[in-house]
Amino acid sequence: MGRLEGKIAVITGAGGDIGTATAVAFAREGATVACFDVDPKTAARCAQAVMAQGGVARHYECDVSDSDSVRKTMSAVAEHFSGVDVLVNNAAISSPYEPVHTLPESAWRKALDVNLTGAFLISKYAVPLMMKRGRGSIIHMASQMGHVGNKGRAAYGATKAALIHLARIMALDYAEMNIRVNSLSPGAVLTSRVVGRYGSEDAARQRLEPLYPIKRLGTPQEIAAAVVFLASDESSFMTGADLLLDGGYTAQ
Ligand SMILES: NC(=O)c1ccc[n+]([C@@H]2O[C@H](COP(=O)([O-])OP(=O)(O)OC[C@H]3O[C@@H](n4cnc5c(N)ncnc54)[C@H](O)[C@@H]3O)[C@@H](O)[C@H]2O)c1
Repeated sequence: MGRLEGKIAVITGAGGDIGTATAVAFAREGATVACFDVDPKTAARCAQAVMAQGGVARHYECDVSDSDSVRKTMSAVAEHFSGVDVLVNNAAISSPYEPVHTLPESAWRKALDVNLTGAFLISKYAVPLMMKRGRGSIIHMASQMGHVGNKGRAAYGATKAALIHLARIMALDYAEMNIRVNSLSPGAVLTSRVVGRYGSEDAARQRLEPLYPIKRLGTPQEIAAAVVFLASDESSFMTGADLLLDGGYTAQ
């Protein structure tokens, strides 16, 4: 028996490296996965990666920052599946590395819309489906940057800190309904987003690895393993918490 046997999971931003690794890990543990992404091609690629491993998945184009898109996609999920047991709010965008006085207002608003309001909107429509099932686990993908400040990361960092707090409040709101809500805060993970920012994998490693006591970057699979833990009954006494996976960064 897998640790997520019989569970139906929605993962947003499933087309990215962490989202896809999570979808594959979920399926390996027996979950059926609904792969959401604003980019339909990467959503489909994620579902294919799951099915290539013998898992069950469907892909959905969904812009988490758009309430119409969220409502329609969640109603398609409700129609196809008997409910939702697990929600991973993983979709996010970065924001320009600028201090507040030069950060365009549009960039600030876009980061809040996708990273924070997106988690609110998907949760808003997923929770009733969890209530019907009488159980649920919601995981907001935050970041070490929700714990510590980094120059120029006003919008991204603020959204990640807010997600950690949103998990606490939602945990209180839904504790008596058997719906747990936690957040997970990764440090730098070797994904195409991080590689893209530094131009190459070597450049990303050279720049970032020295900053981590563990002297390496995380892998999408390490993050996925922690999401499986939060999604599964192994973490059944855990709600309103944040799980830090940061190679010791914030211990310094
Ligand atoms: N990679 C890291 O080092 C790192 C560190 C800490 C936290 N995180 C967090 O982990 C998560 C995944 O990171 P990743 O590196 O795989 O990022 P990524 O950019 O590769 O993946 C994010 C996915 O979200 C999707 N997306 C963007 N806007 C969307 C929208 N409006 N609606 C739906 N989907 C949308 C993108 O298409 C993409 O597939 C993010 O929440 C990120 O903030 C990543």
